[in-house]
Amino acid sequence: MSKRAFVTGATGFLGINLVQELLAQNWQVTAIKRSRSQTKHLNPLNINLVTGDVEDIDSLRAAVPHQVDAVFHVAASTNLWSKYNQRQYKTNVEGTRNMIKVALEKEAGRFIHTSSIAAYGIHEDQVREDTLSNALDSGINYHVTKYLSENDVKEAVGRELDAVVLNPAHIVGPYDTHNWVQIFKNVYRQSMPGIPPTLGSFTYAPEVAKVHIIAYEKGVKGENYLLGGVEASMLEFVNFIERFLDKPVSMKTTAPWILQLATKFYQLGALFTGKEPLLTPEKTKLLTHNVRCDDSKARQQLNFQAVPLETIVEKTCHWLKQENLL
Ligand SMILES: NC(=O)c1ccc[n+]([C@@H]2O[C@H](COP(=O)([O-])OP(=O)(O)OC[C@H]3O[C@@H](n4cnc5c(N)ncnc54)[C@H](OP(=O)(O)O)[C@@H]3O)[C@@H](O)[C@H]2O)c1
Repeated sequence: MSKRAFVTGATGFLGINLVQELLAQNWQVTAIKRSRSQTKHLNPLNINLVTGDVEDIDSLRAAVPHQVDAVFHVAASTNLWSKYNQRQYKTNVEGTRNMIKVALEKEAGRFIHTSSIAAYGIHEDQVREDTLSNALDSGINYHVTKYLSENDVKEAVGRELDAVVLNPAHIVGPYDTHNWVQIFKNVYRQSMPGIPPTLGSFTYAPEVAKVHIIAYEKGVKGENYLLGGVEASMLEFVNFIERFLDKPVSMKTTAPWILQLATKFYQLGALFTGKEPLLTPEKTKLLTHNVRCDDSKARQQLNFQAVPLETIVEKTCHWLKQENLL
């Protein structure tokens, strides 16, 4: 008999990849969408799509099937602009608390929580599962809220929640409309504000989706798994994008202080336009620090695979062109 999954965040980048993988593996999927969610990519799929919001516990109570095999709690606000901090706290922290509560009430089999490497804070060296988090001092609300929500999940493990926590690094791939794909769009428009001299761990969205299902099957209760992928410099990452989009290839990185100065100008501009600036202090902070991890635990225990960066970028460019997003 096929397994039953409940998915939050299914209308987003990683969520769509996860739903596709669940269906490919013959799962029955119930997912929530908000009234304003874009469902274009989910509509053709054979899933039970119901209206719900992680901030509204009653909508979750109505949506989550009794004794569902797995809850995949993917939904979050990934915003990196302080204007949305309050909203982000509600979604990421209070929304996760609601999801935990309802998963326990509905006696869900397992709870797979999509956290982030951001929950560890900011570190120049490789992060490991046992690295102490400094997220609360990071000055980035996304990092703070991912840390707090992950902590709530772990605390609930002591209250019988059979949870596994996944901490992906930079996820790139098809169905991204507003996260790392911003860099693809900036390269395309030749409006990159600069390339920081930093390193990142890049992972492919369909692979992260697959590992969510393996985490359900094999993940150890209460444990974290970092999903790093390929480590590369931001210059290498941007160069691949430039090559696939037939743009001039950048040769140099930009000093962090220049990006920090540029951020102040973009912020001033935002005061007039009210629109999110191209660089926010949070984005600049993230981009001007390394984001790297040791993902050997996930490779060994969850068969996590690193996809070559060139392939990741090629497939993402292909999808963006196909969707006329470039
Ligand atoms: N992208 C990355 O590089 C990255 C890296 C590490 C970890 N992660 C984690 O991966 C997860 C998915 O991120 P993503 O990149 O796929 O983000 P995304 O494309 O912005 O998708 C976010 C999803 O969450 C949903 N959502 C937001 N607020 C909600 C609410 N109040 N109630 C119900 N659903 C809500 C969104 O619904 P709408 O469609 O209605 O907006 C959307 O489906 C997040 O937990 C994120 O922290 C992402």
